[in-house]
Amino acid sequence: MDPVGMRPVLGIESSCDETAAAVLDRDGRILSALVASQEREHAPYGGVVPEIAARTHLALLPGLVRRAMAEAGLDFAALGGVAATTGPGLIGGLIVGSQVGKGIALSRGLPFVAVNHLEAHALTARLPGLVAGNVPFPYMLLLISGGHCQCIAVEGVGKHVRLGGTVDDAAGEAFDKVAKLLGLPWPGGPALERLATEGDPRRFGFPRPMLGRAGCDFSFSGLKTAVAHAVAEFGSGALERQVAADVAAGFQAAVAAVLADRAGHAMALFADRYPGTPGLLVVAGGVAANGAIRTALTAATAARGFHLAVPPPALCTDNAVMVAWAGIERLRLGLTDGLEIAPRPRWPLQDLAEPAAG
Ligand code: KG4
Ligand code: ZN
Repeated sequence: MDPVGMRPVLGIESSCDETAAAVLDRDGRILSALVASQEREHAPYGGVVPEIAARTHLALLPGLVRRAMAEAGLDFAALGGVAATTGPGLIGGLIVGSQVGKGIALSRGLPFVAVNHLEAHALTARLPGLVAGNVPFPYMLLLISGGHCQCIAVEGVGKHVRLGGTVDDAAGEAFDKVAKLLGLPWPGGPALERLATEGDPRRFGFPRPMLGRAGCDFSFSGLKTAVAHAVAEFGSGALERQVAADVAAGFQAAVAAVLADRAGHAMALFADRYPGTPGLLVVAGGVAANGAIRTALTAATAARGFHLAVPPPALCTDNAVMVAWAGIERLRLGLTDGLEIAPRPRWPLQDLAEPAAG
């Protein structure tokens, strides 16, 4: 059998409402990748309920891991390491995922990697075959999900510089809240995008918070309030479909403009910081699935001479492939974690362990 350092790695993700397990070989080839969405469990509550998420992870994860191993055609004895998301996220799910990972590592005497969920999103672009040229460091990451909205310069494994981020809501959170105001089911982003196709984005002149402001911070709460006021003007009943569509289109256009503007500033900061480096903007997170946002980001990157890379949706939203891959990147540098490491609901990228010099 291959030495441990060449054997496949199991990845586990359970930081929010996706239960996921994946097995990758050491070259990053995906041997299996499973995601069980908990959308059905949380939808009646209009958002993720932490206690339900923790219980659902506990119910689903052991079976999912076994299936991921079976689909990879491997026995646990064939693994060379286990990587599990250990933060940031909801503590219940983090405990379930990291304990399952540690248990497998302990019983097989395998190295364990405590993966930071944000670093996993950040390193996904380096998965072989995803982006032409295999994405050398440094590059820019725009992370736009339900829980995160940040511009990060990815300098290396464990080396990330946060250039800016939201001062209030995440972009996906804003989509979900506005969708709720429009009576759309949770999670609201995809339904809002569909409705917006029927709407006139110019009917409501919604604000574009932070547009043109120095740096690359974001703010979405003022935009959300403006939408709430516009909707309230139409009384308390259900909105006429055309009104709802116009609101959706106007809101989406505002978010797209803001994201393009802020990403533009981030690219300028990046170019100043790393002169002579080819410009690459990688977009991750569920909001990257939005067509209008993608179009706006395509124009913004072209205007700055940057390339735009958007991984396929299944790798943009929460998944375990990215966790296994981040584990492989860390294992290659000899970075492993002791089983005493505790899950961290808050775990900023700046706090990550860097590889030792040399
Ligand atoms: O990355 P993700 O799957 O999970 C985390 O938040 O970690 O992102 C989910 C978010 C939700 O807020 C959802 O409404 C949003 O991404 N989203 C979208 C679209 N698809 C998903 N937002 C706008 N347009 C979409 N097509
Ligand atoms: Zn995520």
